[in-house]
Amino acid sequence: MSAEIIDGKKIAAEIRAELKTEVQNLKAKSGVTPGLAVILVGEDPASQSYVTAKERACAEIGIFSDDNRLPASTTQAELLELIAQKNADPRIHGILVQLPVPRHIDTNAVIAAIAPSKDVDGFSPVSMGKLMIGLPTFISCTPHGIVQLLMRSGVKLAGAHVVVVGRSNIVGKPVANLLCQKAAYGDATVTICHSRTPNLADFTRQADVLIAAVGHAHTITAEMVKPGAVVIDVGVNRIEDPASPKGYRLKGDVDFEAVSQVASKITPVPGGVGPMTITMLLYNTVQSASQTVANCN
Ligand code: GUN
Repeated sequence: MSAEIIDGKKIAAEIRAELKTEVQNLKAKSGVTPGLAVILVGEDPASQSYVTAKERACAEIGIFSDDNRLPASTTQAELLELIAQKNADPRIHGILVQLPVPRHIDTNAVIAAIAPSKDVDGFSPVSMGKLMIGLPTFISCTPHGIVQLLMRSGVKLAGAHVVVVGRSNIVGKPVANLLCQKAAYGDATVTICHSRTPNLADFTRQADVLIAAVGHAHTITAEMVKPGAVVIDVGVNRIEDPASPKGYRLKGDVDFEAVSQVASKITPVPGGVGPMTITMLLYNTVQSASQTVANCN
């Protein structure tokens, strides 16, 4: 069997086109331009390229992007003060602090300082808590992107056994919670596995939908996948490759070549989940701006 590719670039482009129209309509009706404050502390190259990609994506669909690049020496107090300013700024509907922040800054304090009404990353305890009990909230971007990929590819989730490998706050825990909600995008039976799960393959082989969010290249091999399963690869691992212009290649957590012979549908890396993460950030920012306009009327 050769699996059908779930094309994240194509699905992301469809959603971005829908959002561009929504932004135009919002501007025409209310004069409001959605605004996203992006804050990067330090010079980590991967973070710099993510932030640049986010700013470019904002510009493409008409979102105002407020770029804040701060030195690695920025104190926690200075960062919290900047977040307080953005919380109070009516031009800003979403605030994103790129993670990880330098070690001397407490990540939890930073996330908690973002007003829940502007938490477009969906990382705060308030957003996560609402997601868990099924209340409307900003859904964190990678889990939301995965749900959109599955739904727009016609994958049946009700009654399916989803196995999530990885228990991070950014992906594993929220995606597992979403997919077991009593909702159109949920109703799945969900198992969460992680680095301390013994006999991982015993679990992964039971999956109708397997979500790999481990952070290690080629963790999921063909023997670990049930024939016909849908495989979502969240991994973005930089593998050194002197022959490549950048000096590295991106590899997922899944052995794509072998697993695509067993699965029925699979996401590639790059071009699968990655483009969806930024797209759902745009989505949350547009929702936040629309909500602000609705609250003023
Ligand atoms: N670092 C890696 N992924 C993310 C993300 O989705 N949001 C933020 N803020 N930082 C990240």
